[in-house]
Formats: sequence, C-alpha cells, structure tokens
Amino acid sequence: KKNLVIAIDGYSSCGKSTLAKALAKKLGFIYIDSGAMYRAVTLYFLRNNINVADDAQVADALQHIELNFHSRDYESHITLNGEEVSDEIRLMPVSENVSEVSAHKLVRHEMVKQQQRMGKSKNIVMDGRDIGTTVFPDAPVKFFMTADPKIRAERRFKELESKGNNTTTLEEVFENLAHRDYADTTRKESPLVRAEDAIILDNTDLTQQEQLDFALEKVGPFL
Ligand code: C5P
Repeated sequence: KKNLVIAIDGYSSCGKSTLAKALAKKLGFIYIDSGAMYRAVTLYFLRNNINVADDAQVADALQHIELNFHSRDYESHITLNGEEVSDEIRLMPVSENVSEVSAHKLVRHEMVKQQQRMGKSKNIVMDGRDIGTTVFPDAPVKFFMTADPKIRAERRFKELESKGNNTTTLEEVFENLAHRDYADTTRKESPLVRAEDAIILDNTDLTQQEQLDFALEKVGPFL
C-alpha cells in the first residue's frame, strides 16, 4: 500500500503543529515541522552574519547546514549541525528574521527538496505554509488552518510565557504574527495560499479535541 502524506498549512500560530502532532500520534505517523527547518536555517544565518541579499553567500551557507529531526513523543526536536536548537529557534530574533530568510529562492529549493525526501516512502504529517501547494501537491488530505489573529497572538504569548520568556510583550507577538502573515502571503516564491483542494479549518472556537476529531473524520477514508 502506498504511503500517506497529510499536509497542514495556514497562518502563523494557528495551532498547526498542535493538530499535526495529535494526528501523528493517533495514527502512528511521523510528524515533520517544516517551519522548524526555516527557523534553524535563519538561526545559522544570524549566527554567521549571512547576508540574504547575497545569493552566493546564501548558496554557500546552505552547503554548511545539516538539519536533523529527532522525534521524542511526537515533539519535534531539530538539530543544526548536531546541536539541539529546538528552543532557541522559537525566540524573537529568529521569529523576526525567518520570513525574510524563508522567502529566498535558494533556501526554499533546498528545504523543499529535503522535505520531499522525508515524505517519500513514509506516512507523515507535515505542517507549514506551502506543503499542500508546493511540497506535496498530490497529498490526498490537506488542511488549511486559520483563526482570529488576536486569539493566535494570545496563544503564542502564553506559550512563550510558559517557557520562561518575560521580555516579549503581547503587542510584539501580535505585530510579529501580522508581519509574518503579510510577508508569507505576498512573497514571490511559493507564497502562503490555500490549495484548491485543502479543507478549511478555522479553530477560533474549537478545542484541540474537536479539531482532532474533525481531522480524523477527513483522513479516515484514506487509511
Ligand atoms: O511554522 P512556523 O511559524 O514556525 O514557521 C516560521 C516561518 O517559516 C513562517 O513564518 C514562514 O516564513 C516560514 N515557513 C515557510 N514555509 C513553510 C514553513 C514555514 O516559509 N513550509
């Protein structure tokens, strides 16, 4: 039987990864957080002062980046050249620069190539911005998630707080989400857009269990 890819796209902090993890756990699939890959590349660029306007520098940097996922309880842990960077990639310096880095054509080509390889012969749930449109346009099940921007900012703010961050304000989180949504939907290279065949899931008023039940019902016929 052929492997199954479930694609989840949508705006920033819509709960894509929460749903993706829950689905993967329930179905025994591998969860891949494509955003973590763009974030890890961004961290490398920041640390090494890579100028995104310089294509040669970007191309060279990409050759020196090795990303790996380590699944532990369906939490995605990512390493950058062997170093665990899962927490650092969630902080504001990366969040503020990731949309610019991820808009670069060479960065996208490399990440998409790696993502397609990961889904080749395995059952996976992958979340991101262009999974249903560019990475796996033939995925049989695609979700497009959205939620009220204020709710999204509050959720992300609470998440940062629970991780001990107390330097970033709710306003800054809101601004960052708005900025990333704008940048992600208006960029030239595979912008964030709903695939025609993606199922819309607005979770503003849904619990995590309700979202999981909804998604399982849609995935059911393909199992
Ligand atoms: O999913 P997350 O919010 O962690 O993604 C961080 C950023 O990475 C997004 O704002 C977007 O700029 C970029 N991204 C992307 N394509 C993906 C996943 C993430 O461009 N498939």
